[in-house]
Order: sequence, then C-alpha cells, then structure tokens
Amino acid sequence: AIQRTFSIIKPDATKRNLTGAIAAKFEAAGLRIVASKRIHLTKAQAGVFYEVHKERPFYDELCEFMSSEPIVVQVLEGEDAIAKNREVMGATNPAEAADGTIRKEYALSIGENSVHGSDAPETAAVEIAYFFSGLELVG
Ligand code: CMP
Repeated sequence: AIQRTFSIIKPDATKRNLTGAIAAKFEAAGLRIVASKRIHLTKAQAGVFYEVHKERPFYDELCEFMSSEPIVVQVLEGEDAIAKNREVMGATNPAEAADGTIRKEYALSIGENSVHGSDAPETAAVEIAYFFSGLELVG
C-alpha cells in the first residue's frame, strides 16, 4: 500500500553538506519527498520527539546531539514507504549496516547515524504531526 513515513537528516549529515546526497538516495529508491524543511530544534523539542527513549542511558546525549546543529525533516511517500525507507537507511549501528545504505556510507557512529526514520505506521503519523501541518504535505 502507499504509505507516508517521517525522516530526519541529522546534524552530523547536515553539517557535512550531505542533505542532497541523502535525499537522492530516497528518490532513487522510489520515495517521493512530499514535505521538507530545515529547522534547528531546541534540546527540549528534541526531548519531546524522543520521549519513548527517556529512560535510556543515551537519552541526554541524543537530545544534545539532535539540537546541536540544524536538521532536515521530511515526509516520504511511496509503496511500503516505511519498510523501503528503513532498507535505504540501513541498520541503526553503521557497523552493522549493509553496503550501499545511507548509514553504511555516511554514519559516524550509532549516535551520529545521519538519519532517522519511523518504525511503524502509528509512529509515522505521530512524528509527521509533530513537525508538519496538513497544508505542508504536498503529494
Ligand atoms: P533513531 O532512529 O533516531 O532513534 C533513536 C536514536 O538513538 C537512534 O536513531 C540512535 O541514533 C540513537 N541511539 C541508539 N542507541 C544509541 C547508543 N547506544 N548511544 C547513543 N545513541 C544511540
């Protein structure tokens, strides 16, 4: 089915001028970028976004990192967009990511791993709504 998923190009990637290279990977995989904007989160805003990880030991470091530099938030649309995006991203830990994936090519570490993508339709809906209004989604 046609789905929408939420994507973040993280600070380590925007800082190294990889926004276009990463967007090109999504498009090459058949995902359409139906919304896109560059923003700079406060630590508190990052904290709300990553609330599910609140109890994890890396939570503070994660929120600090995600608010350290601008990010690019996007909505990707396409057939099985959630699974397709996760395939293009590769494993969370770049050491385990398959050849040709974004994290294999660009990620620096498990924390500075260049991209985020929703893991399920329910989380995609919540994450899209946190960053975009309906008027900003242009399919
Ligand atoms: P993301 O998909 O954005 O969702 C949660 C993030 O936490 C994950 O990508 C990683 O970048 C980050 N993360 C996961 N495990 C660790 C870890 N052990 N240390 C630091 N960050 C982590």
